Amino acid sequence: MVAAKIIFIDDNEKYYIPEKFHDSLGMAWYAPFITVLAKRYEAMQEVCQESSTKNGLDVYFGDFGKSFFDWIDAERRQFVDGRLDKGFLPILQKHKKEFNMALEVGCGSGILANALAKRNPNATIIGIDYADESLRKAKLHAKNENLKNVEYYGHDITSLPVEWTNRFDLVLMFDFLHDTSDPVKCVSEMKRVLMKDGLLVIADPNISSYQKKNEGNVLASAFYSISLFNCLPNSLSKKPEAGLGIGWGFENERDFLISQNLEILETYDFTINEHSVLFACKKIENV
Ligand SMILES: C[S@@+](CC[C@H](N)C(=O)[O-])C[C@H]1O[C@@H](n2cnc3c(N)ncnc32)[C@H](O)[C@@H]1O
Repeated sequence: MVAAKIIFIDDNEKYYIPEKFHDSLGMAWYAPFITVLAKRYEAMQEVCQESSTKNGLDVYFGDFGKSFFDWIDAERRQFVDGRLDKGFLPILQKHKKEFNMALEVGCGSGILANALAKRNPNATIIGIDYADESLRKAKLHAKNENLKNVEYYGHDITSLPVEWTNRFDLVLMFDFLHDTSDPVKCVSEMKRVLMKDGLLVIADPNISSYQKKNEGNVLASAFYSISLFNCLPNSLSKKPEAGLGIGWGFENERDFLISQNLEILETYDFTINEHSVLFACKKIENV
């Protein structure tokens, strides 16, 4: 780090980081993720060849094994209270003070679902994810925290159980819609399991759909690289290969949600270690 002039040494042999670099330290959480994403490098090279017959990568989150979920678990754990206090809770307070049955889709290692369960002991929280490693972690955390009101199941978001129709008064999705290859089916499944007056909250990175607006946005540059190696290939991995990724951006996402007959009650920005945009929606009946 000293050789690369990232860290400096003063005349008393004390290490220091010059003030002008302090802003970039805000991105330190991202650094270990590069080694995780690098596992896809060769597969990415192959698919980008002109001679390649593949359209997308036949990938899914579980391909990263433990490493992806270890990283995301540590990152989420660090910031979960802030995400709840500054992000989800103000929205719930405003649009859904009381809820009995909540579902988090693509729950990863259950950090958000567990925190919600802890703060709402009278509600039941269900988390679903299709990756075994994420569910293993989520269940373990719930057990360690002695949470009795949270349950985890392995399901693909595109086919939730039939008996869940109209069952939940709150459905949450954090950092996931831009990863999916079939956003239309995802949203229709979330709407199906949502009760008539239920609240659907979808949060994604607050990155603009317009490149020009992201000029000089350090966070966007980190997110684009994450997206290239993970979100975009994931969104191209199955039919209908929507090819979204983080570059989809919040303007396109908002228009998409409206096109799926959701009424957006509020669009809410919040920043913890990253900028997120949260769409609080309800379904428009009879459409
Ligand atoms: C970017 S991670 C976010 C995880 C979690 N929401 C969080 O913020 O920590 C996306 C999650 O969606 C899950 N996922 C991706 N595609 C899925 C699908 N088709 N069905 C269910 N889960 C899926 C992945 O396994 C992963 O845990």
